[in-house]
Amino acid sequence: MTNEDPHFFADLADQQAPEYLWIGCSDSRVSANTIVDLAPGEVFVHRNIANLVNHTDMNCLSVIQFAVEVLRVKHIIVCGHYGCGGVIAALEGQRHGLIDNWLRHIQDTANQNEQRLAAIGDMSERVNLLCELNVGEQVINVGETTIVQEAWERGQELTVNGWIYGLKDGHIRDLDISLRGEDDLHRLRTRILSGRESGALI
Ligand code: CO
Repeated sequence: MTNEDPHFFADLADQQAPEYLWIGCSDSRVSANTIVDLAPGEVFVHRNIANLVNHTDMNCLSVIQFAVEVLRVKHIIVCGHYGCGGVIAALEGQRHGLIDNWLRHIQDTANQNEQRLAAIGDMSERVNLLCELNVGEQVINVGETTIVQEAWERGQELTVNGWIYGLKDGHIRDLDISLRGEDDLHRLRTRILSGRESGALI
């Protein structure tokens, strides 16, 4: 790195000014900087199993607060991935111990979309739909945090994006569920609810 830019580390040590907060899965194959080809200092990162955003998770909420209020990121990216082990475990419903309490949130999403999921015969396709639906739920959860709500109320430019990454082909797919304000949040809630009934993808 210093061969290319002798001041790289000196400049980086002075400050970080990322425009993006990445909320992704802990899966070792889904590394934020690598996937979006961003250098150190360009993306603030929170990862956990199956990229969940829960309203009582002080770890995740603290990351969001720091990113939005101090770093003033312009985008929050919730990035799930197809074939997510957490989503598979939630769908299979077998006991794995403590982690089942964490995966419970994905099972709630699966229950809310039971008919759509059951209509898909192929298990990996079913998992992948739940991976997408999970991203949708987490985008809504981010939009509903007091942190994001207050940012929008004071007119701060902040977009919440939902992406999904393909382990098999390295492609990122934008699920086209971005939220730029309260109206978008309302529309996405309606869209997901109607999708549950019609069988359409997100
Ligand atoms: Co995963």
